[in-house]
Amino acid sequence: MKTPKIPQNAPYSDTQRAWLGGFFAGMHSHMLQSANSANKVDARIVNILYGSQTGNSESVANDTAAVAKTHGLSPVVKGMDEIEIDVLAKMENILIITSTYGEGEMPDNAQLLWDQISADSAPRMENTHYSILALGDTSYDEFCKAGMDWDNRLTELGAKRLYDRIDCDVDFEDLAESWIRSVIPMMADGEPVTLVASENGENDKPKYNRKNPFLTNIICNRLLTAENSSKETRHFEFSLQGSGLSYEAGDALNVIPQNCPDLVADIVQALGCTGDEDEPVNGELMSLSEALRTHFEIKLPTKELLKEIANRSGDQELNGLLESGDKNKLTKYLFGRDTLDLLLQFPGMELSAAEFMALLKPLQHRAYSISSSGKMYPDSVHLTVASVRYQSHGRNHKGVCSTYMADLVNENTEVKIFFSPNNTFRVPEDDSLPIIMVGPGTGIAPFRAFLQEREIRKATGKNWLLFGDRNAATDYIYQDEIEAMQANGVLTHLDLAFSRDQQEKIYVQDRMREKGAEMFDWLEQGGSFYVCGDANYMAKDVDKALHDIIEQHGQKTSEQAVDYINHLKKEKRYVRDVY
Ligand SMILES: Cc1cc2nc3c(=O)[nH]c(=O)nc-3n(C[C@H](O)[C@H](O)[C@H](O)COP(=O)(O)OP(=O)(O)OC[C@H]3O[C@@H](n4cnc5c(N)ncnc54)[C@H](O)[C@@H]3O)c2cc1C
Ligand SMILES: NC(=O)c1ccc[n+]([C@@H]2O[C@H](COP(=O)([O-])OP(=O)(O)OC[C@H]3O[C@@H](n4cnc5c(N)ncnc54)[C@H](OP(=O)(O)O)[C@@H]3O)[C@@H](O)[C@H]2O)c1
Ligand SMILES: Cc1cc2nc3c(=O)[nH]c(=O)nc-3n(C[C@H](O)[C@H](O)[C@H](O)COP(=O)(O)O)c2cc1C
Repeated sequence: MKTPKIPQNAPYSDTQRAWLGGFFAGMHSHMLQSANSANKVDARIVNILYGSQTGNSESVANDTAAVAKTHGLSPVVKGMDEIEIDVLAKMENILIITSTYGEGEMPDNAQLLWDQISADSAPRMENTHYSILALGDTSYDEFCKAGMDWDNRLTELGAKRLYDRIDCDVDFEDLAESWIRSVIPMMADGEPVTLVASENGENDKPKYNRKNPFLTNIICNRLLTAENSSKETRHFEFSLQGSGLSYEAGDALNVIPQNCPDLVADIVQALGCTGDEDEPVNGELMSLSEALRTHFEIKLPTKELLKEIANRSGDQELNGLLESGDKNKLTKYLFGRDTLDLLLQFPGMELSAAEFMALLKPLQHRAYSISSSGKMYPDSVHLTVASVRYQSHGRNHKGVCSTYMADLVNENTEVKIFFSPNNTFRVPEDDSLPIIMVGPGTGIAPFRAFLQEREIRKATGKNWLLFGDRNAATDYIYQDEIEAMQANGVLTHLDLAFSRDQQEKIYVQDRMREKGAEMFDWLEQGGSFYVCGDANYMAKDVDKALHDIIEQHGQKTSEQAVDYINHLKKEKRYVRDVY
């Protein structure tokens, strides 16, 4: 067996190259020893650990494993919630792929392991070699913070970074591929990687994805809230006829929107352009108007655009805010202000079409929790979407994707979609187990799917839905379906919390507390607890209520309640789809 060579064109620093030489030499002698003692060479185990909320990191982890296998490695893919800290500490080779959630937080499935590894009592990891791929989004202040935190902590604990961390923005695929290309040979035989299909060929990869979306039509666009409601929530159905596509209750559907032509026209005018200016976009000449409509995020200003506006306008307030680094003040300043507001506020900046476009980010898809069961509706997929509309700075503002679907699409418009599987957000395999679903507002979406799924599977387990919204008379969405499911026995328990029907706000967590004893009992029976909807306030308050209920009705200390909940999380019996 030959000691592997590091390819000259591999993107390693000199230090990495020097270290790798030793690493591979050590590995060579270790493998020879194994070969001599066992008369065969064991495949090198590579632990691929993912922290993932909506499945991107999990899918990259699986891609990494497929490539590792083709290089004679023995990959073990695990969610971070499937690993004990003492097992982690003994791993020799770790590849971590993690997203960041909330405001610079760990994804749910990584939180417990992170709490343990970041504690003072965490074990040393001198024998570990690792590399990290961080998934994130540069529009968040804490870009890729979870990946950075893991990187810093593993180094502190003595682990050796095999390859520099790569931080990916929303278009993560190319960087992820290049990370895999670089890191796998370091763990294998040093030869450059050709990415090849896994053993099962291309079939185990989704046929349609962000770069190759499925083109379909919206076959139903129905208002769910009443005409006189203070909000607008809609039910959409997309055709899957003839696509060969299928999905599971709990998955998300991504929609690639287009910008509103009126907003495009206003921006073009504010720039002092005609809209006909031809500019290169992805290697193709395109008019400014067309590019702004189909290729760029034009609603919320990027950091780069803000800086340029501050620079060109010389505005003291904006420059002061950017220089101070005070994120809270800047967020407050930007609240409700979009790109057009800024262009109108600072006229005469003389930004050319090309300069303006260079300061924008590519138009992104939006994710939506699917509100139908693929078993009940194999030829369509349903969404429950709140249209984002608000008044600010003297203008009507509209969310890009929610109002693209609501206003701009008709039955003949081709809409681009693709699925994101979410393997952790699933009804239990055991149909006899009870489930508790907390989903106020659009958070009801996956639970409509879960109830359909339980119905079609003839699941005997009890189903408890906690739903809430502003006013019962106008916002009790899917009321007829919910009542029908109560009548046919699928929905065994229902609690409603309409926040604005009385002086004092009533929220789903108030209903939880009222029925705390029964809720604890369901958990003791092996029940699962699901939460969907707002991440910033609702999900945090529901989490607090769950802790309190377990403490009070399980007669536990707060530490014991935390342990109880960690156990639920580990068993994937407390899972969230929050945004
Ligand atoms: C996994 C996942 C599942 C999701 N599921 C659903 C779902 O089932 N249903 C659903 O409706 N949404 C869901 N969302 C949210 C969805 O992806 C979009 O974020 C949402 O539709 C808004 O997108 P938009 O393009 O219409 O708005 P954008 O153009 O992206 O604008 C939204 C932005 O507008 C600003 N804004 C919004 N309201 C106000 C206001 N009142 N005042 C000032 N500024 C404001 C905020 O900056 C906000 O971030 C989900 C998100 C994720 C990540
Ligand atoms: N992170 C985000 O940007 C984010 C998160 C969630 C939703 N949204 C967007 O907001 C729009 C509407 O969303 P939605 O229909 O899902 O929900 P929503 O309208 O925001 O709220 C649904 C219900 O939840 C209540 N609620 C508010 N604060 C709560 C808390 N701390 N705990 C429990 N319940 C609480 C609301 O009451 P009151 O309003 O009366 O207080 C209302 O009754 C959508 O466009 C969605 O995309 C954005
Ligand atoms: C509600 C929400 C919060 C997010 N917060 C951050 C953040 O603070 N920092 C960041 O870099 N990315 C953030 N992201 C972006 C995700 O990390 C990114 O979409 C990633 O690809 C998700 O990967 P996953 O599917 O494996 O969880 C956030 C995304 C959502 C929907």
